[in-house]
Amino acid sequence: MGATVPEPAGSPARHSELLGLAVRLAREAALLASSMRSAAITDIATKSTRTDVVTAADTAVERYVGAALRRLRPGDRLLGEEAGERAGDLGASVRWILDPIDGTVNYLYGLPQWAVSLAVEVDGQVVAGVVRNGGTGQEWTALRGAGAYRDGRPIRCSEVTELGQALVATGFGYAPARRAHQAGVLAGLLPAVRDIRRFGSAALDLCLAAQGQVDAYFEKGLNLWDHAAGALVATEAGLHVTGLAGAPPGPDLVLAAPPAIHQRLHDLLVELDAAGGA
Ligand code: IPD
Ligand code: CA
Repeated sequence: MGATVPEPAGSPARHSELLGLAVRLAREAALLASSMRSAAITDIATKSTRTDVVTAADTAVERYVGAALRRLRPGDRLLGEEAGERAGDLGASVRWILDPIDGTVNYLYGLPQWAVSLAVEVDGQVVAGVVRNGGTGQEWTALRGAGAYRDGRPIRCSEVTELGQALVATGFGYAPARRAHQAGVLAGLLPAVRDIRRFGSAALDLCLAAQGQVDAYFEKGLNLWDHAAGALVATEAGLHVTGLAGAPPGPDLVLAAPPAIHQRLHDLLVELDAAGGA
């Protein structure tokens, strides 16, 4: 028998190994955040505006995951919401993308709609992702090309074909000027859809769309850590996940919709200038 040849970072076996580690870290991270909440450790500071908070748990979770990755995979890079980009090996092909608590305001208020979101990028492409709802214990996972799962069971997006029948989730930024513009977009959208939902966690919104509990989701102003894992879950569940005019999802727009209504919703959002404003 010859020596075992290590799998290249781009191979499916490696991707599923990376997902396994992501799931383990997300579970530990969610447990840490939950225990800090039970112990009422919710010291807060503000970031971009007075309503954009960072709790002690956001920072603790990011430190925890960062330390674990340094120990277990010292050559990888990490992009986290609170600390930004941490450089690893210069030639590192693997980058971890972490939102330590997505839905921080829900976490602060004890609403069970917040999540740890952890994605793994290999050579610039997200190949694995996990979103764990720390309030309920529900967990969504996806591997590129291998489907999306909720608690180990395969999930699919809705089969809605009419925009007027679509339940659409969205979210708002923290800056007042952006919110004022977003309110205008909603005023134009509401008469054209079944209804709107605003749950407070972009990562979970994408997962709800992935299992058909909302039909579609859009938001302007998201950062990569908000949507990296959830967008893979949504894509693998059959949604079309894009930005504007076929561009990849990004700060201008993240739009996740079933194929039959994607173009119509996209065009209406363009008409309403959803990617514009502050
Ligand atoms: C926020 C949530 C929210 C979305 C905001 C995000 P945070 O992330 O995902 O649903 O509307 O745009 O910034 O601040 O809770 O990590
Ligand atoms: Ca976030």
